[in-house]
Amino acid sequence: MLRIAVFASGRGSNLRAIVDAIEAGTIPDSRVFLVISNNSNAGALELARARHIDAVHLSRQHFDSDAAFNEAMLAHLRKRDINLIALAGYMKKLDSHILNEYSHQVINIHPALLPDFGGQGMYGMRVHESVIATKSPRSGATVHLVTDEYDRGPVLMQRSVNVDPTDTPELLAEKILRVEHELYPEVIRMIATGELRLPGLDLGGRRE
Ligand code: GRF
Repeated sequence: MLRIAVFASGRGSNLRAIVDAIEAGTIPDSRVFLVISNNSNAGALELARARHIDAVHLSRQHFDSDAAFNEAMLAHLRKRDINLIALAGYMKKLDSHILNEYSHQVINIHPALLPDFGGQGMYGMRVHESVIATKSPRSGATVHLVTDEYDRGPVLMQRSVNVDPTDTPELLAEKILRVEHELYPEVIRMIATGELRLPGLDLGGRRE
């Protein structure tokens, strides 16, 4: 079974899309057991509570050291036997301790066609502004494995959209967000069914 933790800093629309797909039965044998946010005001935490999912605000500021912060995060993950971490607009870099323990089990969604328009500082509206400024004819969404380099882990799946001459960064963001809400649940569905194999993931007896 896929036991998912979603990490989010903002409104949580991708979290909603994932939870909706699970509830609708589109993603089999899966559940979101935990939502973690560095931002106590994140819509994602509110949404999690409304859906009766454990919602945890975890901020580095509340810990004396990186080690204590990482241990607290790992304790939350281990307690619920999490086997897939899905980053959905999580604005903090995950420490290598977490990435090592969850090697090949952390995925992220990025609102552009990586490797283009990714990397440190490339988030939110900046991505779409750059796409338009460089007159790229296409953009889209990418789900990729997370490594310790921003937006550079292996791509799992991408979906593209045309960039129209009339697109503003805001319009492009909306267009891509609609694609994200299909793409992220689709990738998780494929992981849950084993169509997409993650080397680190044990779905109950199955290990590679
Ligand atoms: C999405 O655009 C995602 O691609 C990026 O952060 C945004 C999160 O949006 N990584 P939401 O909080 O899921 O609505």
